[in-house]
Amino acid sequence: MKEVLERIDASRGQTLDELLAWLRIPSVSADPDRAGDVDRAARWLADRLSRAGFTTEVAPTGGHPAVVAEWRGAPGAPTVLVYGHYDVQPADPADGWTGAPFEPEIRQGAIVARGATDDKGQVSCHVAGARAVLEARGALPVNLVFLVEGEEESGSDHLEPFVTANRHRLACDAVVVSDSGQFAAGVPAITYGLRGLVYLEVTVQGPSRDLHSGSFGGAVVNPANALAGMLAALHDPAGKVAVPGFYDDVRPLEAWERAQFAALPFDEAALRADLGVGALGGEAGYTTLERLWARPTLDVNGLWGGYTGAGAKTVIPAEASAKLSCRLVPDQDPDQVAGAVEARLRDACPAGCAVDVRRLHGARPVLVPADAPAVRAARTAVAKGFGTDPVLIREGGSIPVVEAFQRLLGAPVVLVGFGRPDDRAHGPDERFHLDDLWAGVRTSAHLWEALAEADPAGSAIY
Ligand code: BES
Ligand code: ZN
Repeated sequence: MKEVLERIDASRGQTLDELLAWLRIPSVSADPDRAGDVDRAARWLADRLSRAGFTTEVAPTGGHPAVVAEWRGAPGAPTVLVYGHYDVQPADPADGWTGAPFEPEIRQGAIVARGATDDKGQVSCHVAGARAVLEARGALPVNLVFLVEGEEESGSDHLEPFVTANRHRLACDAVVVSDSGQFAAGVPAITYGLRGLVYLEVTVQGPSRDLHSGSFGGAVVNPANALAGMLAALHDPAGKVAVPGFYDDVRPLEAWERAQFAALPFDEAALRADLGVGALGGEAGYTTLERLWARPTLDVNGLWGGYTGAGAKTVIPAEASAKLSCRLVPDQDPDQVAGAVEARLRDACPAGCAVDVRRLHGARPVLVPADAPAVRAARTAVAKGFGTDPVLIREGGSIPVVEAFQRLLGAPVVLVGFGRPDDRAHGPDERFHLDDLWAGVRTSAHLWEALAEADPAGSAIY
């Protein structure tokens, strides 16, 4: 690997410049005004992979396009699918950014920009890792297919049909996903579980128009008051979700998992300090890591209605709304949970108001085999790339297509993340440390070799 590692070091300038150029494209999938930029980010990646030696397509999906890039020069060797996303969450300087979110800067050893860690920086680790091997050796030890989509941050709605339609082309022995993170700075991780998601928008309608709160207050049911009561009724005092049927399919934590979580070097005081809160809170009877990784939640993500401008306005609003999300754990089903929450809201809505519940996107929770040969190969590669063994963790976030990969392609998914938990994904000043970028590129280069060795005959022993 010496010549590959030298190649990685020699091309640091190019790798970094290319990542910075990609980060300058504001590929916000949720914003229809940015559709042109989303497209441009896809074509930009396709061009970069073509120049690295891949056969590339910007494939239509019915939504934002997916980049598919193939290198199939290792007949008889395993085929590895690398999945990631080139779309990013919205970002506004008004959210508290120090600089402009789409004008990346290097500050204190980290690239600061929207998408730096989630997920352009992590995808770039694999592009640079594969390219270094190709440049140094002329060939990869595995067949490699990149599938990089543009809708992950808005629910990956078109990707499962795309994978179904392209399942022969995407057939593989293992899927590699770098869209999670390390457990802590310098403690790299392999993730074996992701939570799922249900996202709902609730609107409570009251009177047919906004009313004077003096002339009418006390005699009509205020939809904002009603919504507040309905939302408050969704939890009990012990922090449990008070929705009948919500926990029906929750797989209990196993004893070995509780022991393994408890053995991790988790610093709760540091987390409180980083978040600026005096106390953490959640479901009684579970530790913080258990609550984050293996228990379902229900949270208000947004809440509005009535007058929110400067000063006071004495008004009873005609309607009030909230956005809610539930994080799900195996074996909860997004449709069943959405139905249960909707039924509870309808039940709690007082006479004099009507409630409308709309379902936005969802994702299935997933567990991946923690002991598959492909995962063992990734552990070896991480140990070499980061210089320290990874820990095995679950994560609280969601990557909608991961469950579909296992179901439709029948291949194990390796979740190997390079970013840090305090990289501020989705927040202001999102960043990716340069140390992690280079460790990620090295891990990627080692990974192809480790995967080839895990299954040298190319048989489906993964
Ligand atoms: N990279 C994250 C998922 C993630 C976050 C994995 C933290 C592990 C730890 C991903 O890009 C993401 O944010 N996904 C969304 C999916 C949703 C919009 C369906 C999420 O989890 O909110
Ligand atoms: Zn992501």
